[in-house]
Amino acid sequence: MLTSSIDIAVAALRRGDLVAIPTETVYGLAADASSLDAVRRIYVAKGRPSNHPVIVHIAGVDELVHWATAVPDWARSLADVFWPGPLTLILPRAVGVGDWVTGGQANVGLRVPGHQVALEILKQSGLGLAAPSANRFGAVSPTSASAVFEDLGPFLEVSRDLIFEGGDCAVGLESTIVDATSNQPSILRLGVITREQIEEITGLEVVESKNKIRSPGSLATHYSPRAKVHLAIVGSTGGFIGLAEIATPAGLIRLAAPADVAEYAHILYESLRRADALGLDQVVAIAPEGGGLAAAIRDRLQRAAASR
Ligand code: TXA
Ligand code: MG
Repeated sequence: MLTSSIDIAVAALRRGDLVAIPTETVYGLAADASSLDAVRRIYVAKGRPSNHPVIVHIAGVDELVHWATAVPDWARSLADVFWPGPLTLILPRAVGVGDWVTGGQANVGLRVPGHQVALEILKQSGLGLAAPSANRFGAVSPTSASAVFEDLGPFLEVSRDLIFEGGDCAVGLESTIVDATSNQPSILRLGVITREQIEEITGLEVVESKNKIRSPGSLATHYSPRAKVHLAIVGSTGGFIGLAEIATPAGLIRLAAPADVAEYAHILYESLRRADALGLDQVVAIAPEGGGLAAAIRDRLQRAAASR
């Protein structure tokens, strides 16, 4: 099931099989975006509701015309600057783009990944690749091939599907998603590319999205006080994640001591997985301060804290 051959990965994707591919953000579970049957198998392997849209990965900015129409000039400038890289653009879909990648919506999410392996596979296959993060629905995104295997292994077909061994993901957090379906940008998911960068390049103000994005796990907590309540259970075993400058609180196992915000992003998901592997009951994380990538990390920690 593991491979490090581009040719083998391309052949599998052309047959309609699944390949977990490395990108600079996280591993994606890829399939031929033009094939309903292939994309349906992603949903089954992930255990994901079928009305959720998936990002289509393309080989370069030249491919945009096959997937999207009405690309605003400002979105084109973002693509020119950040692709290949951790930016996803939501755009009106072109004719022929299947409901199975858009979740039945009129828009499609597109991204050129900044990773040599992913780019080679895209170029050699000539396909657009639908690829959500290569984890079971609701679980932590994988940043290594072994993390993909641990999480998805039992749900892939040994005789068909592949996991590409492409090392650790450099960024470690999913791409910044920008809604480019109106005349001003809005951010649907925070990532390593910041609001400030988007405003600088487009010369436009980033606004609240009018596009209703489906975001599971972000339900309002109507019945809680404004102050967030953390419940530490006496006698349970806990892990700790925080910048290196912050000491480990008594009784907790240090899971990570990143030196800076970039390293925090890089090790976050691996540390959360390790907490599970160690059988810990709770994780205490001190979120980094500041905007940009620090805000993206806080966003992911909030979601991790809200689930289960
Ligand atoms: O960094 C990433 O973006 C990774 C790597 C593999 O590229 N992919 C990733 O995919 O995080 P996924 O499916 O786990 O998250 C994609 C997000 C979802 O929240 C989905 O709702 C949103 O993108 N999305 C995709 N297509 C969309 C569309 N047409 N309209 C609105 N939201 C969309
Ligand atoms: Mg995901």
